[in-house]
Amino acid sequence: MTKLSVNINKIALIRNSRGGNHPDLIKVAMDCEQYGAEGITIHPRPDERHARYEDVAALKKVVRTELNIEGNPMDKFIQVVLDAQPHQVTLVPDAPEALTSDHGWDTLKHQKYLRDIIAVFKKEGIRTSIFVDADLKMIDAAVDTGTDCIELYTESYAKQYPRDKEAAIAPFILAGKRALELGLRLNAGHDLNLDNLNYFAQAIPHLAEVSIGHALVCDSLYYGLQNTIGMYLKKLQA
Ligand code: PXP
Repeated sequence: MTKLSVNINKIALIRNSRGGNHPDLIKVAMDCEQYGAEGITIHPRPDERHARYEDVAALKKVVRTELNIEGNPMDKFIQVVLDAQPHQVTLVPDAPEALTSDHGWDTLKHQKYLRDIIAVFKKEGIRTSIFVDADLKMIDAAVDTGTDCIELYTESYAKQYPRDKEAAIAPFILAGKRALELGLRLNAGHDLNLDNLNYFAQAIPHLAEVSIGHALVCDSLYYGLQNTIGMYLKKLQA
Protein backbone atom coordinates (compact mmCIF):
# COMPACT_ATOMS: atom_id res chain seq x y z
CA MET A 1 0.00 0.00 0.00
CA THR A 2 1.29 3.42 -0.96
CA LYS A 3 1.58 5.77 2.02
CA LEU A 4 0.38 9.35 1.97
CA SER A 5 2.82 11.87 3.38
CA VAL A 6 1.31 15.34 3.66
CA ASN A 7 3.66 18.18 2.81
CA ILE A 8 2.70 21.00 5.19
CA ASN A 9 4.82 23.79 3.71
CA LYS A 10 1.75 25.68 2.47
CA ILE A 11 0.41 25.76 6.02
CA ALA A 12 3.68 27.35 7.14
CA LEU A 13 3.41 29.86 4.31
CA ILE A 14 0.00 31.03 5.55
CA ARG A 15 1.29 31.19 9.12
CA ASN A 16 4.28 33.30 8.10
CA SER A 17 2.13 35.74 6.14
CA ARG A 18 0.85 37.28 9.39
CA GLY A 19 3.80 36.77 11.68
CA GLY A 20 1.88 34.92 14.41
CA ASN A 21 1.19 31.24 14.89
CA HIS A 22 -2.01 30.77 12.89
CA PRO A 23 -2.45 28.22 11.58
CA ASP A 24 -0.41 26.28 14.11
CA LEU A 25 1.86 24.09 11.97
CA ILE A 26 2.46 21.56 14.72
CA LYS A 27 -1.24 21.14 15.42
CA VAL A 28 -1.96 20.75 11.72
CA ALA A 29 0.68 18.01 11.47
CA MET A 30 -0.86 16.17 14.40
CA ASP A 31 -4.33 16.58 12.93
CA CYS A 32 -3.17 15.26 9.55
CA GLU A 33 -1.95 12.12 11.29
CA GLN A 34 -5.17 11.81 13.24
CA TYR A 35 -7.11 12.06 9.96
CA GLY A 36 -5.10 9.19 8.50
CA ALA A 37 -1.97 10.66 6.93
CA GLU A 38 0.87 8.17 7.14
CA GLY A 39 3.65 10.72 7.06
CA ILE A 40 4.45 14.41 7.36
CA THR A 41 6.83 16.14 4.97
CA ILE A 42 8.46 19.50 5.46
CA HIS A 43 10.81 21.33 3.14
CA PRO A 44 12.73 24.13 4.85
CA ARG A 45 14.40 26.43 2.35
CA PRO A 46 17.30 28.74 3.15
CA ASP A 47 15.06 31.86 3.21
CA GLU A 48 12.61 30.04 5.55
CA ARG A 49 9.75 31.61 3.65
CA HIS A 50 7.48 28.73 4.56
CA ALA A 51 8.87 25.98 6.81
CA ARG A 52 11.46 27.28 9.24
CA TYR A 53 14.41 25.28 10.45
CA GLU A 54 13.05 25.47 14.00
CA ASP A 55 9.83 23.77 12.82
CA VAL A 56 11.79 20.61 12.12
CA ALA A 57 12.71 19.91 15.74
CA ALA A 58 9.20 20.79 16.91
CA LEU A 59 7.71 18.37 14.39
CA LYS A 60 10.08 15.59 15.38
CA LYS A 61 8.67 15.78 18.90
CA VAL A 62 5.08 15.15 17.78
CA VAL A 63 5.08 13.21 14.52
CA ARG A 64 4.13 9.61 15.26
CA THR A 65 4.06 8.27 11.70
CA GLU A 66 6.99 9.18 9.44
CA LEU A 67 8.77 12.53 9.36
CA ASN A 68 10.33 13.24 5.98
CA ILE A 69 12.53 16.31 5.68
CA GLU A 70 13.22 17.52 2.15
CA GLY A 71 15.74 20.02 0.97
CA ASN A 72 18.96 20.96 -0.69
CA PRO A 73 21.73 19.52 1.49
CA MET A 74 23.49 22.74 2.39
CA ASP A 75 25.41 22.86 5.69
CA LYS A 76 22.54 24.28 7.74
CA PHE A 77 20.10 21.72 6.33
CA ILE A 78 22.44 18.81 7.06
CA GLN A 79 22.87 19.97 10.66
CA VAL A 80 19.14 20.41 11.21
CA VAL A 81 18.43 16.93 9.84
CA LEU A 82 21.15 15.31 11.92
CA ASP A 83 19.84 17.05 15.05
CA ALA A 84 16.23 16.06 14.39
CA GLN A 85 16.92 12.45 13.31
CA PRO A 86 13.83 12.12 11.09
CA HIS A 87 12.79 8.79 9.61
CA GLN A 88 13.67 9.94 6.12
CA VAL A 89 15.57 12.74 4.42
CA THR A 90 14.89 13.58 0.78
CA LEU A 91 17.66 15.44 -1.00
CA VAL A 92 16.47 17.92 -3.61
CA PRO A 93 18.69 20.01 -5.91
CA ASP A 94 16.56 23.17 -5.72
CA ALA A 95 18.18 26.57 -5.99
CA PRO A 96 17.70 28.74 -2.87
CA GLU A 97 15.43 31.15 -4.75
CA ALA A 98 13.42 28.44 -6.57
CA LEU A 99 9.66 28.84 -6.30
CA THR A 100 9.37 25.09 -5.87
CA SER A 101 11.49 22.05 -6.71
CA ASP A 102 11.76 22.03 -10.48
CA HIS A 103 14.19 19.25 -11.44
CA GLY A 104 15.73 16.05 -10.18
CA TRP A 105 19.38 15.38 -9.44
CA ASP A 106 21.90 14.70 -12.15
CA THR A 107 23.09 11.56 -10.37
CA LEU A 108 26.00 11.10 -12.79
CA LYS A 109 27.41 14.60 -12.42
CA HIS A 110 26.80 14.85 -8.67
CA GLN A 111 27.47 11.24 -7.81
CA LYS A 112 30.38 11.74 -5.43
CA TYR A 113 28.74 14.75 -3.77
CA LEU A 114 25.58 12.74 -3.15
CA ARG A 115 27.46 9.65 -2.03
CA ASP A 116 29.38 11.61 0.60
CA ILE A 117 26.28 13.32 1.99
CA ILE A 118 24.16 10.16 1.90
CA ALA A 119 26.85 8.33 3.87
CA VAL A 120 26.58 10.93 6.64
CA PHE A 121 22.82 10.42 7.00
CA LYS A 122 22.97 6.65 6.68
CA LYS A 123 25.56 6.46 9.43
CA GLU A 124 22.93 8.03 11.68
CA GLY A 125 20.30 5.51 10.61
CA ILE A 126 18.25 8.04 8.63
CA ARG A 127 16.67 6.62 5.48
CA THR A 128 17.82 8.57 2.43
CA SER A 129 15.91 9.45 -0.69
CA ILE A 130 16.95 11.52 -3.68
CA PHE A 131 14.67 13.42 -6.03
CA VAL A 132 15.11 12.28 -9.64
CA ASP A 133 13.39 12.63 -12.98
CA ALA A 134 11.89 9.51 -14.57
CA ASP A 135 15.08 8.99 -16.56
CA LEU A 136 16.65 5.52 -16.54
CA LYS A 137 20.20 6.87 -16.74
CA MET A 138 19.65 8.92 -13.60
CA ILE A 139 18.05 5.99 -11.80
CA ASP A 140 20.88 3.62 -12.71
CA ALA A 141 23.40 6.12 -11.37
CA ALA A 142 21.31 6.76 -8.26
CA VAL A 143 22.17 3.29 -6.98
CA ASP A 144 25.84 4.19 -6.89
CA THR A 145 25.16 7.08 -4.53
CA GLY A 146 24.18 4.52 -1.88
CA THR A 147 20.70 5.97 -1.47
CA ASP A 148 17.96 3.77 -0.01
CA CYS A 149 15.23 5.32 -2.05
CA ILE A 150 14.41 7.61 -4.97
CA GLU A 151 11.54 10.06 -5.24
CA LEU A 152 10.31 10.42 -8.82
CA TYR A 153 9.59 14.01 -9.81
CA THR A 154 6.05 13.81 -11.15
CA GLU A 155 5.46 17.28 -12.59
CA SER A 156 5.79 16.04 -16.20
CA TYR A 157 3.26 13.30 -15.47
CA ALA A 158 0.80 15.76 -13.95
CA LYS A 159 1.14 18.19 -16.87
CA GLN A 160 0.56 15.59 -19.56
CA TYR A 161 -2.09 13.59 -17.71
CA PRO A 162 -5.13 15.65 -18.82
CA ARG A 163 -4.17 15.30 -22.51
CA ASP A 164 -2.79 11.76 -22.68
CA LYS A 165 -2.54 9.80 -19.46
CA GLU A 166 -1.02 6.71 -21.07
CA ALA A 167 1.83 8.70 -22.57
CA ALA A 168 2.18 10.59 -19.29
CA ILE A 169 2.62 7.47 -17.19
CA ALA A 170 4.83 5.50 -19.61
CA PRO A 171 8.24 6.82 -18.47
CA PHE A 172 7.20 6.43 -14.83
CA ILE A 173 6.28 2.79 -15.30
CA LEU A 174 9.72 2.16 -16.79
CA ALA A 175 11.39 4.15 -14.03
CA GLY A 176 9.45 2.28 -11.38
CA LYS A 177 10.41 -1.09 -12.84
CA ARG A 178 14.05 -0.10 -12.96
CA ALA A 179 13.98 1.05 -9.34
CA LEU A 180 12.45 -2.27 -8.33
CA GLU A 181 15.12 -4.23 -10.22
CA LEU A 182 17.84 -2.17 -8.58
CA GLY A 183 16.40 -2.64 -5.10
CA LEU A 184 15.57 1.03 -4.60
CA ARG A 185 12.55 1.97 -2.52
CA LEU A 186 10.27 4.19 -4.60
CA ASN A 187 8.56 7.44 -3.63
CA ALA A 188 6.96 10.07 -5.86
CA GLY A 189 5.78 13.62 -5.62
CA HIS A 190 5.01 17.00 -7.14
CA ASP A 191 1.73 18.15 -8.62
CA LEU A 192 -0.09 14.96 -7.69
CA ASN A 193 -3.77 15.66 -7.06
CA LEU A 194 -7.21 14.09 -6.73
CA ASP A 195 -7.49 13.69 -10.51
CA ASN A 196 -4.16 12.13 -11.35
CA LEU A 197 -3.18 10.25 -8.18
CA ASN A 198 -5.17 7.05 -8.55
CA TYR A 199 -3.97 6.33 -12.09
CA PHE A 200 -0.37 6.87 -11.00
CA ALA A 201 -0.63 4.61 -7.95
CA GLN A 202 -2.43 1.87 -9.92
CA ALA A 203 0.24 1.87 -12.60
CA ILE A 204 3.09 1.59 -10.09
CA PRO A 205 1.89 -0.83 -7.43
CA HIS A 206 5.17 -1.00 -5.51
CA LEU A 207 5.16 2.75 -4.92
CA ALA A 208 6.03 3.16 -1.24
CA GLU A 209 5.02 6.75 -0.60
CA VAL A 210 3.69 9.90 -2.23
CA SER A 211 4.26 13.33 -0.77
CA ILE A 212 1.56 15.83 -1.60
CA GLY A 213 1.23 19.43 -0.51
CA HIS A 214 -0.11 22.11 -2.81
CA ALA A 215 -3.18 20.40 -4.23
CA LEU A 216 -4.10 18.79 -0.92
CA VAL A 217 -4.05 22.10 0.94
CA CYS A 218 -6.03 23.78 -1.88
CA ASP A 219 -8.62 20.98 -1.80
CA SER A 220 -8.95 21.28 1.95
CA LEU A 221 -10.26 24.85 1.51
CA TYR A 222 -13.34 23.34 -0.09
CA TYR A 223 -13.64 19.94 1.57
CA GLY A 224 -11.95 20.48 4.93
CA LEU A 225 -8.68 18.88 5.95
CA GLN A 226 -10.16 15.68 7.38
CA ASN A 227 -12.34 14.95 4.33
CA THR A 228 -9.54 15.85 1.97
CA ILE A 229 -7.06 13.48 3.56
CA GLY A 230 -9.72 10.76 3.42
CA MET A 231 -10.25 11.48 -0.28
CA TYR A 232 -6.52 11.20 -1.05
CA LEU A 233 -6.26 7.98 0.94
CA LYS A 234 -9.15 6.54 -1.06
CA LYS A 235 -7.37 7.39 -4.30
CA LEU A 236 -4.42 5.35 -3.07
CA GLN A 237 -6.61 2.39 -2.14
CA ALA A 238 -9.01 2.25 -5.06
N1 PXP B 1 8.42 16.39 -3.47
C1 PXP B 1 9.32 17.39 -3.46
C2 PXP B 1 10.76 17.05 -3.50
C3 PXP B 1 8.92 18.74 -3.36
O1 PXP B 1 9.82 19.71 -3.34
C4 PXP B 1 7.54 19.03 -3.28
C5 PXP B 1 7.09 20.45 -3.14
O2 PXP B 1 7.68 21.04 -2.03
C6 PXP B 1 6.64 17.95 -3.28
C7 PXP B 1 7.11 16.65 -3.40
C8 PXP B 1 5.17 18.17 -3.17
O3 PXP B 1 4.72 18.82 -4.32
P1 PXP B 1 3.26 19.45 -4.35
O4 PXP B 1 3.27 20.59 -3.37
O5 PXP B 1 3.09 19.89 -5.76
O6 PXP B 1 2.30 18.38 -3.95
